[in-house]
Order: sequence, then C-alpha cells, then structure tokens
Amino acid sequence: MADAPPEDLTTLERFLTLSGHLSVEADRAFGAASTPAELETARIALLGDQRGRLRDFQVALGRLPKEDRAAAGRQFNLVKTTVTSRYEQRRAELAPAGAATPAIADPTMPGRGRWRGAKHPVTLVIEEIESIFRELGFTVARGPEAETEWYNFTALNFPPNHPALDAHDTLFLEGGGLLRTHTSPVQIRTLQRHPPPIRVIIPGMAYRRDFFDASHAPAFQQVEGLCVDEGVSFVDLKATLTRFGQRFLGASRTRFRPSFFPFTEPSAEMDVACGVCGGVGCSVCKGTGWIEFAGCGMVHPAVLEASGVDSERFSGWAFGMGPGRLALSRYGIPDIRLLYDGDVRFLEQIGS
Ligand code: DAH
Repeated sequence: MADAPPEDLTTLERFLTLSGHLSVEADRAFGAASTPAELETARIALLGDQRGRLRDFQVALGRLPKEDRAAAGRQFNLVKTTVTSRYEQRRAELAPAGAATPAIADPTMPGRGRWRGAKHPVTLVIEEIESIFRELGFTVARGPEAETEWYNFTALNFPPNHPALDAHDTLFLEGGGLLRTHTSPVQIRTLQRHPPPIRVIIPGMAYRRDFFDASHAPAFQQVEGLCVDEGVSFVDLKATLTRFGQRFLGASRTRFRPSFFPFTEPSAEMDVACGVCGGVGCSVCKGTGWIEFAGCGMVHPAVLEASGVDSERFSGWAFGMGPGRLALSRYGIPDIRLLYDGDVRFLEQIGS
C-alpha cells in the first residue's frame, strides 16, 4: 500500500509538528546542494510527485478526521509555498550567470519602450512658482516641518487662546513640538538668520487635522513669500502678486479682498478666476467662480520684532499660497485626492 500515510501523521498535532520540520529540512537539503544535479535530487526527495516528502503529507491530509482538515490544509499550503520558494531561490543561485535572460527569439522584433515616469502636477506648479519669483529677485529658503509652538504661533503674533488657533487644527508631536500648520514659521527663522533686505519664497509641507475631501487634505504643500526692506508698502505686494498671477495664469482675472491673519496688518486674500469652470462656478471653486490664490498682507510689526528686526526702520509684506489648489485649477483636476493617489496613469496625463 504505497499510499498509506506514515504512522506518525495520523493525528493533527503530529501533522502540524512534522510538516513544520519539513521547511527546516528543505532549507538544509537545498542549501547543501552545490550543483544543479544535486539540487534536482533534493527537489525530487522533497517535492517529487511520486515519492516526495511533501506528497506523504498530502496523502495524510486526506486521511485526517474531517474537523482537523482545515487547519492541516492551511499548514500544508504554507509549507509547500515555503519549500517551493526555497527551491527556486537555490536554483537561481546555482544557475550559471546570465542563464535567466531568455534568448531573443526574433531579433527583428521592435524594442520594448522604457517607462520614464512623470513629474507630479504639484511639483510642476512649485517649480514654476519658484522660477517666476526667481526672475523677480527672490531666492528659495526652507525650514523644518517639526516646529515649536513659538515659531508656529507665538512669534507670528497669535495670542494665546486666540480663535485663529482653532482654524489651525494642530497635530502635536509626542514629547513636545508640533507639525507646522503652515510655512509661515520659516519667515521668522529666515529673518533671524538673514537681516533685511530680504526676498524669499519658502516651499514646503504643512499639516493640519483636516478632512480628506475633494478640496481638503491633512498634509499639503504651501509656498510662502516674504519681502522685508526699508520703505516697502502694500503697493509692492499688490504689484508683485498681480505680476505673478499674470505670469502664472496668463490674462486671468484677479481680485484682492480684505481678510485677517494675526501675522499681517492689513491682511488680504487674493483670488483668481477659476480655471476649471472659467468663473461660472463648479466643485473646485465651490460655486463661486473664484479660487483663493494667496493669503497676504503687510508683515505685522510684532512679527518683525520677534525676529529681531527693527520695525521702525523696516517694513515688509508676505503671502502664503497652496500649490495643490493651483494645480487643480491650472490642470482642471476636479478632486484634490487625485493628487495623493500616485496613479501613474493620472500623473502621465499632466507631467512629462
Ligand atoms: N499662513 C497662512 C495659512 O496657512 C497663509 C498666509 C497668509 C501666509 C498670509 C502669509 C500671509 O505669509 O501673509 O493659512
């Protein structure tokens, strides 16, 4: 009776123990084989259809009491996969170099195209913002994403318990500190290191405890701008941002609305006509026809002083914009979540 299972495989416990040993045994046997022929002998002993050790377990499996078969089956499949993959691994190691590459059957066949990847739409937008501002005399600065409360709020003139703090649903870090809720703290860090005159833009990630929907994400890119010098006024701000808007969007319409930020006074919101619907109203512009392009304003004297800059002598303006939203409007992308999926079919449609 060639098919009778070995005596010791007739209970579930023995089955599980001994089948577990089999992967160790396979490891040893395949490892000891130093030629393809030796490996083949080991393969037949373990995985062979007729008399392989694994076959014993398969036969035994069918003879176990019904209620034990599911558990034994799972273990059997696991062992079989492990032993097979150990074998494949050893076979690849013992194969002569180059043997894995199949010969080209037909040398006149067309070559296989290489996939090149594509830049992310938000990267494209940030690069373009950087290049326009470089032409306007700005340099690029960066700062840390893990910040202190002082840089993220206090130095930016957020009073403790000010309602503006609620708008920033902050992600705090264990052991103190927080993930910056905006790139504005880098204004302070930059001014501390480089006394005015200064013109910088600051691209980087910001984090908030926000919903993830068609127009919000909890982690997003921002680009901050800062210009501090003697005699700088709101006229410079308006002229520079309008010029930027024209360069970035062509002849698209822009508008400035009064707004509030603790770190600027006066503050404004700059809007551009929505590029998805052309100003008619859609889900991207929430039916208003306008996209918020940038928050901006004159740097509050308290912010200059917190950075060690004499606010009697110097004045400045600043802005913060969301390149993610600009990408939506520029490329007519209806949902911000598409920017986070990493789907190459989507990325390739836009980037090159
Ligand atoms: N930090 C603001 C935010 O995250 C954006 C902002 C507004 C930045 C006005 C500025 C500014 O520099 O002047 O919502």
